[in-house]
Parts: sequence; C-alpha cells; structure tokens
Amino acid sequence: MHSPLISPSLLAGDHAHLATSVSVVEDLGLPWLHCDIMDGHFVPNLSFGPETLAALRRAGSKLFFDTHLMLSRPQDYIEPFARAGANNISIHIEPDYDHAATLARIRSLGCQCGIVLNPGTPARAIAPLLDLVDLVLVMTVQPGFGGQAFRRDMLPKLTEISTWRRERGLKFRLEVDGGIDLDTAQECHAQGADTFVAGTSFFKATDKAAFAATIAAM
Ligand code: DX5
Ligand code: ZN
Repeated sequence: MHSPLISPSLLAGDHAHLATSVSVVEDLGLPWLHCDIMDGHFVPNLSFGPETLAALRRAGSKLFFDTHLMLSRPQDYIEPFARAGANNISIHIEPDYDHAATLARIRSLGCQCGIVLNPGTPARAIAPLLDLVDLVLVMTVQPGFGGQAFRRDMLPKLTEISTWRRERGLKFRLEVDGGIDLDTAQECHAQGADTFVAGTSFFKATDKAAFAATIAAM
C-alpha cells in the first residue's frame, strides 16, 4: 500500500498566474501536480495543452506532472505530453482505441501510465489492463469541471479495485478525482485509495499546509 499522497489540481489554480499556483504547491514541499487536459469533445470543456506544461517546466517546476488526458483521441497526444514534461500520463478507458498499446507507448517514452474510469464505467472494464499500469484513476465526478459534488456511489468501485490489487499482488496507485476534500478523501482512503486529486478544496483552503498534512497523516 502506498502512503497517502495529494495531487493538487492546477485546474483550480489561477489561470492568469499558473506559475504562481504551481509555486504554492512547490513551496509546501508537495511532490505532485495534477494537470487536467480537456478537448471540448470527450468532456464539454477546454483547459490547457502540452505547451502549458512545457512552459511550467521552463519556468523551473520540478513537480511530478500527473497528467489526466480527457480526450477522445488520447493516442494522438502521447508524444507531445511526454515531450512537454509529463511524468505520468493517464488515459480514459471509454473511447475506442488500443488502450494496451497506448499504455505501452507512454511507458516507452519514459513516463508512468494510468487508466481512468468515468463514474458510469464499471470496474471490470479495466480489469484486463491492471498489470500494465502504474495508476488507476477512479473519477468521483463526471469529468469536465472542477467544484462538483463527490459521488459517494463510487466507493464500492474503489473497494473492488483495491481488492483486485491485493489479490493479484499489484502495486498501482489508486487515485480519486472530483469533489475530494478532507472528509471524502478519508472515505476513499478507507476503501483503498492512496492518491487524492484536490482542486477546489486545496486552492480554497486557508491553511494549505495543514490540509496537505491531514491527507499525508491518513
Ligand atoms: C474534473 C477534473 C478534476 C478537477 C477536480 O474533470 O478531472 O481533476 O480538477 O476538481 P475538484 O477537486 O474541484 O472537484
Ligand atoms: Zn483530473
């Protein structure tokens, strides 16, 4: 079991001053940054692209870029994100493409790889891929926007996936994304989640150090 890790979501940062939001994470000594990439097609919203990640790297960020591709054709964007400095690239299971080959390509470019499920997608959809990934991301909201309410009905999916992880002796991180705050993180942790994307709750927290410390101490 991995120790609990927060992955603050840049989507909830200040888009006019993204480097400042990144510094907030860095100055707290937190290692990960969640980067949400949206194409206006797989999800009904747009965010930022590889150039934004590359610019943050050029500005000096050493954070682990935990990159969540919400794209209808993620297979077309692996190289640009790897080149831009992504450390992990997570791709959704829902679109129809060669998931295993795309995961292998992410790995071959020196990145870690993850598979993501929408709330409506059952755990069994990713079962054949579990040997191939460093991370499984269970969406706890319908992706597309920050600030939505946590879907408590996703908790059994976490239990199911963490049980498979234990039974099959696998080591992937189990990440949750959407509506995560200190209470919902705790509920997910109780079902085996170890990696917590926090957008709104983190960037709105008045004491971010205490927020992060509470996650780390779960
Ligand atoms: C939603 C994104 C999330 C988002 C979470 O589509 O994948 O990463 O930033 O935001 P909060 O934490 O505000 O629910
Ligand atoms: Zn995300």
